[in-house]
Amino acid sequence: MTTREPIRLAMVGGGPGAFIGPVHRMAAELDGRMRLVAGAFSRDPAKSAAAAQAWGVRGYADWSEMIAAEAAREDGAQAVAVVTPNHLHLAVSRAALQAGLHVMSDKPATRDLAEAHELATVVAASGRLYGLTYTYTGYPMVRDAREIVRRGDLGAVRKIVVEYPQGWLSRPIEREGAKQAEWRVDPALAGAGCIGDIGVHAFNLAEFVGGVRVERLCADVSTVVPGRMLDDDCNVLLRFKGGARGVLIASQISAGARNGLKLQVYGEKGGLTWSHDRPAELTIDWLDGPSQTLHAASSYLSGPAQVASRLPTGHPEGFIEAFANLYRDFAEAIAEGRADAGLVPDIAEGVRSMAFVETAVAASGQGWVALNGSPA
Ligand SMILES: NC(=O)c1ccc[n+]([C@@H]2O[C@H](COP(=O)([O-])OP(=O)(O)OC[C@H]3O[C@@H](n4cnc5c(N)ncnc54)[C@H](O)[C@@H]3O)[C@@H](O)[C@H]2O)c1
Repeated sequence: MTTREPIRLAMVGGGPGAFIGPVHRMAAELDGRMRLVAGAFSRDPAKSAAAAQAWGVRGYADWSEMIAAEAAREDGAQAVAVVTPNHLHLAVSRAALQAGLHVMSDKPATRDLAEAHELATVVAASGRLYGLTYTYTGYPMVRDAREIVRRGDLGAVRKIVVEYPQGWLSRPIEREGAKQAEWRVDPALAGAGCIGDIGVHAFNLAEFVGGVRVERLCADVSTVVPGRMLDDDCNVLLRFKGGARGVLIASQISAGARNGLKLQVYGEKGGLTWSHDRPAELTIDWLDGPSQTLHAASSYLSGPAQVASRLPTGHPEGFIEAFANLYRDFAEAIAEGRADAGLVPDIAEGVRSMAFVETAVAASGQGWVALNGSPA
């Protein structure tokens, strides 16, 4: 086994109290293939400095200063994790790529579709890697589900149902000081509401596992909590290239729901079900045979699923490990100088997701329309 120095990572966002930045840090470092070396962790310089001190890395008051300084150092960061609210994703990613650094961004890729197209141009010109953390694509059983569909075990895919109910925005907590809620319901900071926050996960998961691309949709995107400026409940019918039909539900007002992502893909011979409540399992129900439950880290799984587990079967792994699979693939691609990072979603997936968001919001209540960018 060759010994490799870990890829040096800087972070923008993820300061004290942030949700996903600390997850990125743990995930990036889990396999020893990446190491956090610097960060502009908060828009508040004191908080950024506090986080840097706590984590023993170089702290910066400003992200553009950080990118310039790190790019200029011999031992500077080679990649940047973007974990700020959505309005900064384009600016930070663009600056990092243009400075010669790779980018691992959290979703959505950008605030809107025009920004995503601009970022795609920047990525292409940069010759650097751009990864998008659609977390759920990192789970072993999601990767196995994808392989099952690709092998044709289910026959041609006919129907995909993906639901993502959350309940945490059932009340207007953005007016009660809930930081994570405040920016998510602000059009200038988030771009879109629930559909951009979790609808994109559902959309990406359906295409990632189903292996088919959405061509047309019929959306009902609405705001349930009075006074909220962005959507908080989305119901979308889908038609895929090749004829498969689908249903996508993303909601943040489904009171009592926690993080209930669930995917069902039905082919001609049977259907599979993966649920985030039991992420180490995959159920297949056959038309002409008994149902099966597959378990993570089992010897009978596909190669991409097997390498995505770190522990023997029956030992629970979860969200951080799924995230870490994306980081491990990304770090290996950087180390090997590859032009893509394998299963890690890229900017093309980011553009598709933003096309989904923009089309669904613009055409809500207006019947069937082509996904922006797909032929009508
Ligand atoms: N993949 C996932 O499962 C997942 C989960 C949650 C959030 N996210 C995404 O991650 C991003 C962050 O979400 P969150 O829930 O962690 O938000 P958060 O509000 O908890 O954290 C945002 C952080 O960004 C910092 N920030 C804001 N402006 C900054 C600036 N100018 N410079 C440096 N830092 C700045 C804030 O200080 C804060 O630390 C969002 O784009 C969100 O969509 C993804």
